[in-house]
Amino acid sequence: MNYFKLMASTVTTALLGIMSLNANNGITIEHLGTNNSLVKVDEKSNYILFPVEESIEDAKINLLLDGKLEKTFRVRLARNKVDYYVPFDISQYHDKNILFNVISNHNRTSVRESSEDACWKAMKLSDTFDTTNREKFRPLYHHTPLYGWMNDPNGMFYKDGVWHLYYQWNPYGSKWENLSWGHSTSTDLINWEHHKIALEPDGLGYIFSGSSVIDTDNTAGFGKDEVISFYTSADVSQIQSMAHSADNGENFTVYPGNPIITLDSEARDPNMFWHAESGKWVLLLAHALDHEMLIFTSPDLKNWTLESSFGKGEGAQNGVWECPDLLYLPVNGTDEHKWVLICNLNPGGVFGGSATQYFVGDFDGKTFTADKDANGKIPTKWMDHGKDHYATVSWHNAPDNRNVVIGWMSNWQYAAEVPTKQFRSANTLPRDISLIKADDGQYYIHTIPSPEMIALRDKKTVSAKSKSFGAKPHSFQLPASNDGVCEILLTVNSEKADSVLMTLSNAKGEKVDLIFDPAASTVSFDRTQSGLTDFNQDFATRTFAPTLRKNRVLSLRIFIDRSSIEVFDGEGNFVITNLVFPTEPYTTLSLSADGGKAQLESLEIYSIK
Ligand code: FRU
Repeated sequence: MNYFKLMASTVTTALLGIMSLNANNGITIEHLGTNNSLVKVDEKSNYILFPVEESIEDAKINLLLDGKLEKTFRVRLARNKVDYYVPFDISQYHDKNILFNVISNHNRTSVRESSEDACWKAMKLSDTFDTTNREKFRPLYHHTPLYGWMNDPNGMFYKDGVWHLYYQWNPYGSKWENLSWGHSTSTDLINWEHHKIALEPDGLGYIFSGSSVIDTDNTAGFGKDEVISFYTSADVSQIQSMAHSADNGENFTVYPGNPIITLDSEARDPNMFWHAESGKWVLLLAHALDHEMLIFTSPDLKNWTLESSFGKGEGAQNGVWECPDLLYLPVNGTDEHKWVLICNLNPGGVFGGSATQYFVGDFDGKTFTADKDANGKIPTKWMDHGKDHYATVSWHNAPDNRNVVIGWMSNWQYAAEVPTKQFRSANTLPRDISLIKADDGQYYIHTIPSPEMIALRDKKTVSAKSKSFGAKPHSFQLPASNDGVCEILLTVNSEKADSVLMTLSNAKGEKVDLIFDPAASTVSFDRTQSGLTDFNQDFATRTFAPTLRKNRVLSLRIFIDRSSIEVFDGEGNFVITNLVFPTEPYTTLSLSADGGKAQLESLEIYSIK
């Protein structure tokens, strides 16, 4: 393009920009320049629906009410095509002039004006937002957000018969942004009710992960039984803030004295509990880049003293340390208890990407000391032996002294690329944990699906006993009544075989192989041919779990829920949690044995209610 043409086109565009007013179903759009448009809401409505295109960058949106900045958020406003819509609630602003100042992200190489973007014609007002599920990979009985991106579960507490679950949420798109606390509740840990957003970004930053406690003795002075939540305010710094709720976590008041804890280095995910022996609150903070956990104490939740740190140079260190938890767990079959420090780490997990490690030891109210193994080393232990288990923490105040945990069922390596759109990510099934002392003298976390999960069972569709099988696969049908979801209970005996192969498959040849290798004392999970795997190079993998015993008999409890498989060891010694994306649900379970005949001692398959 010569100079004159370039001048001429610039002038035309500038003129067009000023003039391109676009009145459209109750909204007026005015394009000011390449990267700037104003959206004025002219009619009363509950929502403005923003059209999103997944693969582009976020536009920054400032909401002005009567000319004053109310909030700033980011949306991947559609340029070329609309993948889905996200709702922005304007019902509370009916008495105000509502103006969105949209700053787009076109750069010079895109040679386009934002005024040409697909979003403007598609943007609309609506009194409703349709959250009907449109995704074949959305789990049926695992917790998922209604729409939008979710990562860590956090801030969980149990009160008055209700399990409260908060989670890292982007309500304006299915990728990580606009971090807020979403809120769901359940009375049975299976059915989740979705509530309004609990905490939204404010002037101190995004609302990152944290925890909640019930202040039964009113130590903080907000009132007896107030719910007190701590979270990381994340902007250029990461500082710790507090909010409290007098109505069981529905509405929060952000504490005006925030931040409560500041450090000059990256620290996040405050996790608190009441330590009865010392009569103090304890707070763990992930000193992320220093790969350690900081331990603070406080009499009143407002004034905190740094007491100690744990972890420098210990355990897995090849990633940032995040989302701590410290639990006092009973050792099964004994009167003993030990302290367990949970440390989420990303990357550097046992199978790549993010994973949860833990340390067993003692805690005196100020300092955590990890147990050493026979070689005088602090061993690295993993809470789950799949790739999709992260940010796991426990519920505060769970009933009957239970220790109930839940994790984010994804991996930072590919969480934003998994083949879903309306929502991204589910949580694991809730799990009850305790400790066992294994043959090597070490304590390990013992995990069972929370007992409430029994209520998921519907019909027993397969029941088999005492069947011997060899190299030729012996097959059973998975329930067809609710596609892609079921529970399988099986016990195999490998006394007369070298290994047992358990395969879940569909007619397209997509499959998951589970292999029990008694000589190696492992169970492996191979998802390399499980269905859609090529959305990310790190997805197609094989993971391994140690059975922690010499036994050649293995019982498993397997939960399949459309795009996830959780394999629980019947003795509680391990869990394997992995995502799978079969293009059609798996329909068959086949058993075969290598190096001899194995015995199916029992098999039960249940459809899910
Ligand atoms: C862990 C994490 C946390 C942080 C949050 C932000 O997955 O990185 O450390 O608080 O996610 O969404």
